[in-house]
Amino acid sequence: MIRIEGVGKVFDVRGESFTALQDIDLEIRTGEFLAVVGPSGCGKSTLLDLLGGLSEPTSGRILLDGVPVTGPGLDRGVVFQQYALFPWRTAVANVEFGLEGKNLSKRERRERARHHLSLVGLSGFEDRYPHELSGGMRQRVAIARSLAFDPDVLLMDEPYAALDAQTRESLQDELLRIWERTGKTVVFITHGIEEAIYLGERVAVMTSRPGRIKHVVPVSLGRRTEGEVRAAPEFGRYRRELASLLRDEVERARIQELREVASVG
Ligand SMILES: Nc1ncnc2c1ncn2[C@@H]1O[C@H](COP(=O)(O)OP(=O)(O)OP(=O)(O)O)[C@@H](O)[C@H]1O
Ligand SMILES: [Mg+2]
Repeated sequence: MIRIEGVGKVFDVRGESFTALQDIDLEIRTGEFLAVVGPSGCGKSTLLDLLGGLSEPTSGRILLDGVPVTGPGLDRGVVFQQYALFPWRTAVANVEFGLEGKNLSKRERRERARHHLSLVGLSGFEDRYPHELSGGMRQRVAIARSLAFDPDVLLMDEPYAALDAQTRESLQDELLRIWERTGKTVVFITHGIEEAIYLGERVAVMTSRPGRIKHVVPVSLGRRTEGEVRAAPEFGRYRRELASLLRDEVERARIQELREVASVG
């Protein structure tokens, strides 16, 4: 289980403190699929970095199975908002990178990497370098790398934002299959309300800056075939509820920005 207790994050921006996150309290069950939505700049990536142990909270703490998170670990895998691939490695070698710490033969590593590239629809592109791939393809390599790495906790920061609708939907289903099969804990940040409802067992809505948890909406749709889920009347209800929660926050953020511009100018 992940426990986020009273977590705040303050950045120092050229001598001034900037509060990105404030008083975040949240529990994420082992094996839960949690989706997180919130306006741009509200602190979603900052929160994910804290969960990944890539930075430290200014206040509060994060416990993973009762143990404070103090740095990155093999138990957690991160898919970053910006594809983080090694430019000097081919697609398959990028995926293999995540497997180098594991006790696998070179051949097993290669097979596993190829298998995961095929899961994300990149068979035939194994030997391309990142600059020879499109943006969405690069992101899929990064997703394949985290899936192949097989961590207990998957932290995903808008992983599907750069993909076309068809690819996105097929990767959503692939992720759900993997999650159902493996019982991983997934924290999935997205801008897409429908994506959040489709994937999440709960959807956490964050407030605009400073980021707090505004509301957590439990989603129960049952798992039917994809078309049915999206067409279900409950789906529309969740969509309206979340859209209205988010709209308030986006408006609040805009007013805040206008005030700041006015006070500077
Ligand atoms: N290293 C940093 N130093 C100073 N400020 C930062 C730093 N990282 C993030 N911030 C600020 O913290 C706030 C939250 O940033 P964050 O990247 O977490 O937002 P986000 O919710 O992920 O936004 P988006 O949806 O656009 O990706 C922003 O105002 C950003 O400018
Ligand atoms: Mg972000």
